[in-house]
Amino acid sequence: MVNIGLLGFGTVGIGVFQILESREEELKNICGCHIKIKKILVKDLNKNRPIKVDASIITDNFDEILEDEDISIIIEATGALEEGYTYISKALKAGKHVVTANKAVVSKHFEELTELADKMDLYFLYEASVGGGIPIIKNLKELLVLNEIVEIKGILNGTCNYILTKMEEGLNYSEALKIAQEKGFAELDPTDDVEGLDARRKLRILGSLALKAKILEKDIFLRGLRGIGPIDIEYVDKMDGAIRLIGEIKVSQNGYTAIVEPIIVSKNSPFYNVHNEKNAVLLRGDQVGDLIFYGSGAGRFPTAHAVLCDVIDIVRGVETIERSLAIRELENINKTIKGRYYLRLSKSSQDIYTILESIAWEVLHKEENIIIMTKDMFLNDILKLIKVLEVKEEDYFLARKEG
Ligand code: NAP
Ligand code: HSE
Repeated sequence: MVNIGLLGFGTVGIGVFQILESREEELKNICGCHIKIKKILVKDLNKNRPIKVDASIITDNFDEILEDEDISIIIEATGALEEGYTYISKALKAGKHVVTANKAVVSKHFEELTELADKMDLYFLYEASVGGGIPIIKNLKELLVLNEIVEIKGILNGTCNYILTKMEEGLNYSEALKIAQEKGFAELDPTDDVEGLDARRKLRILGSLALKAKILEKDIFLRGLRGIGPIDIEYVDKMDGAIRLIGEIKVSQNGYTAIVEPIIVSKNSPFYNVHNEKNAVLLRGDQVGDLIFYGSGAGRFPTAHAVLCDVIDIVRGVETIERSLAIRELENINKTIKGRYYLRLSKSSQDIYTILESIAWEVLHKEENIIIMTKDMFLNDILKLIKVLEVKEEDYFLARKEG
């Protein structure tokens, strides 16, 4: 018997519980033992739960789980940053393996928790922290044996992609976000999704593994969906494109660039037909070439499935092919990020128009909104110009054309 302490009983935690129940026999056959959730940690004991669970296994006291010597694996699915970190580090120090879906914690404490798990000779696995149900971490670790990864590019946030899809279908931004929240895709604070913080955490995790360098959140340029409006969806559609929030790391001889930003993808891009909460990640290896991983980036069962795949690996003692984190130093060259940008300003005047015309490759619209495609320009220069024009963040939208 393997006993699990499950931290969190929301979208992901309930999914884990339900899959374990429904696949009990199959799991027993493949693992050679019964996997049982012995205790569940929640924040609010009085909350109404959508499924019935024996009340004696639910607690709001983490120490009850920590001190239970029969529990050998902790699944952390709380979403809490500080407490999540405390639970994970205490569990590892107490000799328990940890599986987490909490990318905020993995991103902030990646090297430290990995080292701690190594030192304790324990598993610290986090497949569900990136790409929901897509098995991206395990595959990436395997690819690293024979490849240098030179590019990562992906739709890494299900909520943003859901909002963009629904806006393409005619819903407004707030309606689309509300449905994404109801479906359990969004973070507790959805600003983390729409401002791109969640995608940046995922890129930090993928990038650090792939490049074997410490790529911190601060090393990744970030521009989320703020400012986007129906007019942008409409104009980009007229250009035979679609807007996607994309995280991208590129390695060159001089260093690496890392950015999360809205990108206009064309109909022949692998990201064009990625809809709703689906994610897609392209990995470019120097030996294998391009690989694209596609699937549900958020949602109860896909995410719980990823969590349980990690648990199965622990129970079966599968060797996870880890390459050391942060074993090389790479120069960050984000200042070199450039491209042709779609820029819409909702604040217009003759002066602003004259300035924008000077950087425009094409003027798309010139009424209450000014829309241009810029010449090939450094992103930093465009942002500086927007600052000079004193345009508020909610009064403009900027998206790079893929290519
Ligand atoms: P959720 O639905 O909000 O559930 C969170 C659960 O954790 C709730 O049961 C809550 O207790 C409990 N909790 C919160 N803070 C706690 C604390 N400080 N101490 C103890 N328990 C606490 O969240 P979720 O969507 O399942 O997400 C969980 C984690 O998985 C997050 O890190 C999220 O980023 C990640 N993730 C989610 C998805 C997804 O599609 N939802 C996909 C991939 C990864 P109460 O029920 O009593 O409030
Ligand atoms: N809020 C996240 C998303 C959950 O929408 O992608 C999955 O990590």
